[in-house]
Amino acid sequence: MRLPIIAANWKMNTNIEQAVGLVEEMRDGLDKIEKVEKVLCPPFISLAAVRELIADSSIKLGAQNMHFEEKGAYTGEISPLMVKDLCEYIILGHSERRQYFGETDEMINKKVKAALRAGLKPILCIGEKLEENEQGKTAEVVTRQIKAALAEVVSPLGLVIAYEPVWAIGTGKAASGEGANTTIGFIRRIIAQLYSEEIAQAICIQYGGSVTSANVADFIGQPEIDGALVGGASLKAEEFIGIVEQTAAAKG
Ligand code: PGA
Repeated sequence: MRLPIIAANWKMNTNIEQAVGLVEEMRDGLDKIEKVEKVLCPPFISLAAVRELIADSSIKLGAQNMHFEEKGAYTGEISPLMVKDLCEYIILGHSERRQYFGETDEMINKKVKAALRAGLKPILCIGEKLEENEQGKTAEVVTRQIKAALAEVVSPLGLVIAYEPVWAIGTGKAASGEGANTTIGFIRRIIAQLYSEEIAQAICIQYGGSVTSANVADFIGQPEIDGALVGGASLKAEEFIGIVEQTAAAKG
């Protein structure tokens, strides 16, 4: 009932020429896969070029970050309205933003509200660090992150959540499908408590962290997991197409 979403987070990789080349390599393969929402999130400088290349396809575009103000004296920042000019999706609260750029739960809440106000679909990233995991604090951490990110959000419809355990990102050490399913089921119950069962059942919750074409089936075969946010493996056309194909086969 929920349409699975596979999103490619290219992070700070690819110049314009490389981004164009990568899209040309994956476009036709991705385009024909049905019943999966396919989202590419290249760096800002390549958004316009990628948008043109995917214009007549079923592939959607997303950005990786934005400011929460609509405009003004914020040198180096991009506003929700600017993102909305080009994109449908926006990754927010990625652990790398939290870790290296000092993004707090409060800032992420402002960004989520601003994105929804602008008509963007936020991909809200949450997840526990290694030591929090080892201390058995996963539930506590994701509860805090979700509640803070959604404070004053009247309806989260349109929002996508990406559960990304920080220890699994870029490490090659993915969570287990079962473990991720348990945490994502828990996240869905928080949404049900905050809003309603109906809204909780409608919200797409992805897993992210070292997803590849070799392990995606473990995740996508789980009932609570509605897709993946893919970093490293989304920079290889064949790998990424493989991930989307397996998702269509499992969920379609
Ligand atoms: P990874 O990154 O797939 O390279 O682990 C995932 C992410 O950070 O979204």
